Amino acid sequence: MSNNISVLGSINLDTTDHIARIPLPGETIQVNKKSSAAGGKGANQAVAARRSGAEVYFIGAVGDDSAGQSMIDTLRKETIDLTNVEVKKDERTGAATILLDDNGQNSILVYAGANNLIDEAQVKKAESTIAKSDFIISQFETPVSATLEAFKIAKKYGVVTVLNPAPATRISDELLSVTDIIAPNETESAVITGIDVVDQNSMEKTAEFFKNKGVTTTLITLGSRGVYCSTKNDNKLIPAHKVKTVDTTGAGDTFIGSMVSVLKKDLSNILEAIDYGQKASSITVQGLGAQPSIPTREKIKEVYEEV
Ligand code: ATP
Ligand code: RIB
Repeated sequence: MSNNISVLGSINLDTTDHIARIPLPGETIQVNKKSSAAGGKGANQAVAARRSGAEVYFIGAVGDDSAGQSMIDTLRKETIDLTNVEVKKDERTGAATILLDDNGQNSILVYAGANNLIDEAQVKKAESTIAKSDFIISQFETPVSATLEAFKIAKKYGVVTVLNPAPATRISDELLSVTDIIAPNETESAVITGIDVVDQNSMEKTAEFFKNKGVTTTLITLGSRGVYCSTKNDNKLIPAHKVKTVDTTGAGDTFIGSMVSVLKKDLSNILEAIDYGQKASSITVQGLGAQPSIPTREKIKEVYEEV
């Protein structure tokens, strides 16, 4: 099976500063090493889906600078459809500065640049692309108004909408009403619902909150603890794989992109898809950088023979 997936989202050039620990406010510390890689939540999710065999259509933007050209070249090499990626004049390409500590934990600063210029008019131009998709995925590193427009179009054509509400922000009821699957991490979930994710009970309450707003499926990603999944039929925590962490950047993105690439449109295989997505993200956390560490389907098969 090969899903058609539209991804509306960000494209960033990531610069990682390797440090012993995250500095305290007012503190100056040494950067031990610098590295850079292609990133951005949207682009990472698109790459994860494509490397797992989906046909991927990207809706996004870069600036008219060398970083933009380099990001376009990278996504083109992945054979992702870039028809709806615009080069925004006199604007810089999105950029992220990632502070990565010795335990593989990170803090990220994001400069949106061209990502912020994606508007409803650009999304409307992508209507025929969205219409032929099985799924559309979006996040919050691009304007919420663009995501809302894209999801409204998607609903017209029976396309399943997947929202990764990252970075965390409050969400309107209107957007939730056109969202089928929501996939926040614990922090994002608490910002949206006001419910701290601390135990099974709070996860069930969170899923109930989203169900009452029209979102049928809630997937809360819990880092090394796994994924809490709530659907019409199931409420369960699916543990993550135990691995040695080098850099968690892009773990959530890999999970979402690869999971959706194998998901059936009626969501009947969601537990298997989550298992597959977690296998993929467990490989990502063992490598440095976002896109360089996202595995292909072949790599996932090689590591986890039963896939
Ligand atoms: P990020 O912003 O770092 O990309 P996130 O906060 O969106 O990630 P997480 O909940 O940290 O998302 O991770 C997503 C999934 O990746 C987890 O549900 C899990 O399957 C996998 N994962 C993350 N961290 C680890 C880890 N340390 N060991 C194994 N798997 C992990
Ligand atoms: O989710 C990881 C991504 O978040 C990084 O690639 C970085 O670009 C930030 O946007």
